[in-house]
Amino acid sequence: SSKKSDSRGALIVLEGLDRCGKTSQCSKLISYLEGSGHAVESWRFPDRNTGVGQMISSYLMNESHLDDHAIHLLFSANRWEKRSLMESKLRSGTTLIIDRYAFSGVAFSSAKGLDVEWCKAPEAGLLAPDLVLYLDISPEKAAERGGYGDERYEKLEFQQRVAQSYRTLYDATWKIVDATRSMEDVEEQLKQIVMECVLKCQEGKPFTQLWQ
Ligand code: TYD
Repeated sequence: SSKKSDSRGALIVLEGLDRCGKTSQCSKLISYLEGSGHAVESWRFPDRNTGVGQMISSYLMNESHLDDHAIHLLFSANRWEKRSLMESKLRSGTTLIIDRYAFSGVAFSSAKGLDVEWCKAPEAGLLAPDLVLYLDISPEKAAERGGYGDERYEKLEFQQRVAQSYRTLYDATWKIVDATRSMEDVEEQLKQIVMECVLKCQEGKPFTQLWQ
């Protein structure tokens, strides 16, 4: 095969406000990549299956109270506990499509008033995504989509602050996608961007780390 030895899977993250359509688009991307013969796995953060993840889950369902800093560090720890598995999957050639990552961590916690640099610090050293797909929708439009649920953060005013926080995190790895267009339009756009990224990583692209 012409595959170079440093060929690897792509680390692709979807971010956006609650109700932006991320979760549906993640599963569409998985089917698309599988259908075109690529090894791919669907991940999400928080990963509610671990011990740390269960603490996060009970916090989100308002079953427990935690200091803002403490829950921030738990979300971060939840990513660190998956870091080495993430790297070995990517090295073995598996592409990971991840629903939320460190950007959610910083955007949601800083929307509560925590300092942005303080929020970024525990995320430094996690693998940096090759691509961040931001599904862009206004908090008002997102709220119209069947309304928010009962979880802690699903309130309009809070989502407005989250949207502002996300905007301070954009960099060259981000693609801002208009999430108010039809599901099919969004899907088509994402497929193209994602395939380009997967092929580039297959050719061998060095890993980088977040915020160092
Ligand atoms: P998620 O499980 O993706 O819920 P949903 O499927 O309802 O979007 O995320 C739960 C909430 O946790 C969501 O409002 C975003 C928030 N969050 C953080 O505050 N920090 C983080 O690091 C992550 C990953 C999510």
